[in-house]
Amino acid sequence: MAKVVVYPGSFDPVTKGHLDIIERANNVFDKVIVSVFNNPRKRPLFDMEERVKMLKQVVKEYDSVEVDCFTGLLTTYLKQKEAKVIVRGLRAVSDFESEFQMASMNKKLDADIETIFMMTSTEYAYLSSSMIKEVASFEGCVRDLVPEFIVDRLFEKLKERDHLF
Ligand code: PNS
Repeated sequence: MAKVVVYPGSFDPVTKGHLDIIERANNVFDKVIVSVFNNPRKRPLFDMEERVKMLKQVVKEYDSVEVDCFTGLLTTYLKQKEAKVIVRGLRAVSDFESEFQMASMNKKLDADIETIFMMTSTEYAYLSSSMIKEVASFEGCVRDLVPEFIVDRLFEKLKERDHLF
């Protein structure tokens, strides 16, 4: 049976740190489903369609990587996709607590599901979508940290939302 892994996240926007995890998961699993969580409680910078579209562009060279979105519980989504493994990137010690909580809750909700962690490559260890948005909002340089085509979209979006300072 093909080994499928789900890589869930907000991806607002996708960073090179995310891409690093996608590429490495793709080397280990037969199929990677990168899935954007549509969180009804958060107002993201990019709406779900835009995040999915950017991810699709980023992974277009990988035949075994699929981009999707979900709302509701991640465990329910995995069942629908007939997947049993979640992959998450782990950056620093600070990620550990929340990731431990999420993995434990998901295990409680569905004992068949395993969460595996990949240590983020050191060059991206400090990187997060929130940090990218903050730096870009003050017109700092985020080149090298997000895929090239996203840099322009990020500045356009921040301008559109009046978030450039
Ligand atoms: O990129 P993020 O914001 O760190 O991703 C968090 C995400 C989307 C993986 C997490 O919030 C999630 O899985 N949410 C779905 C709702 C859910 O299942 N919650 C209970 C277990 S955490």
